[in-house]
Amino acid sequence: MKGEALIRVEDLKVWFPVRRSIVDLLARRPQLYVHAVDGVTFEIYRGETLCLVGESGCGKTTTARAIVRLIDKENIAGGRILLKPSEDVLEEVKKIQPDAVAEEGYVDMYKLKGKALLGVRRETQMIFQDPFASLNPRFRILDILEEPLIVHKIGDKEERLEIVSKVLETVKLTPPEEFLPRFPHQLSGGQRQRVAIARALVLNPKILAADEPVSMLDVSIRAEVLEVLNELRDKMKMAILFITHDLALARYVCDRIAVMYLGKIVELGGADDIIQNPLHPYTQALINAIPEPEPENRKKIRKLRIKGEVTSAVNLPKGCRFRPRCVAYDENPHIQPRCEAEEPGLIEERPGHYAACWLYEKRSP
Ligand SMILES: Nc1ncnc2c1ncn2[C@@H]1O[C@H](COP(=O)(O)OP(=O)(O)OP(=O)(O)O)[C@@H](O)[C@H]1O
Ligand SMILES: [Mg+2]
Repeated sequence: MKGEALIRVEDLKVWFPVRRSIVDLLARRPQLYVHAVDGVTFEIYRGETLCLVGESGCGKTTTARAIVRLIDKENIAGGRILLKPSEDVLEEVKKIQPDAVAEEGYVDMYKLKGKALLGVRRETQMIFQDPFASLNPRFRILDILEEPLIVHKIGDKEERLEIVSKVLETVKLTPPEEFLPRFPHQLSGGQRQRVAIARALVLNPKILAADEPVSMLDVSIRAEVLEVLNELRDKMKMAILFITHDLALARYVCDRIAVMYLGKIVELGGADDIIQNPLHPYTQALINAIPEPEPENRKKIRKLRIKGEVTSAVNLPKGCRFRPRCVAYDENPHIQPRCEAEEPGLIEERPGHYAACWLYEKRSP
């Protein structure tokens, strides 16, 4: 899918300093960093869902938090995040903070501050990984949903009630009067997650980061919540970054998939292309772990089993960061000397389908 990119992430690096002990300080050991996100580039188009998949700790949540600017500026070790706000928000940024305006109608997320930032924030929302922890237990549903509207000075009491009721209907919590006076503990898990989605939607965002929005829900509710998100994306033409561990789910909700490993995107392409024809050994192993996705595919890649622990994000290996686990494959056909010496970038093996693996290096004719 092409069109207008609402999010452009360019070579983003988010590093967190590792806390040093007194011994480290005395021995003058250098400051070490967790390379949570280590050079990530992607775009998300209007009306598109891009899935970010990969195992625990590979940097998915950090990427999402960076997009909605929940990462401290000092942890951004490189790159930039450009967002395309609506015309009126852009005009306002141009007026009050012209240095945060980047080329072609984009704003540079980490240059924004004060009122200009507030305006852009309104259009960028996030649904958090844990629906049980993300809602304040002392607030009624009405207060939870009304709060963002009050912060952004939208409407009077009556208008706000109308907006909140409408958004509850959108996430199929009806009739709204029944839910508005309740506290989060008086809802089921699925209903609570729908309130979390409603809160993200109440400001009518253009950009939504959804961090494993259904992983804590049971299967019957899951489909319902995903349906709501898909409908909204189509109706409101949002750009969604959808995070999941689950590749089978990714295929169902996403247009494209980005596979992350240790802070880097190792494969990027159309959802069907990636599931049916995975290129990177890591993706192949992930797909192999899905119970019987495509019998044909399974036969082809049956031998690939990932072994060993995730490599440390503090002391990254030289060369390809997946190599220490790639060598551990049974009958590995992939390894070549170059893997140890140089880190591969994303290589376009098929139109729109990229993999960061030396196997796909184009040979000169
Ligand atoms: N505020 C922080 N300070 C220090 N390290 C952090 C911080 N936030 C995340 N990390 C580290 O960054 C790495 C990436 O974490 P992140 O939460 O982005 O992973 P994830 O892919 O979302 O994992 P999961 O699937 O378990 O949610 C991890 O090693 C984590 O420990
Ligand atoms: Mg996470």
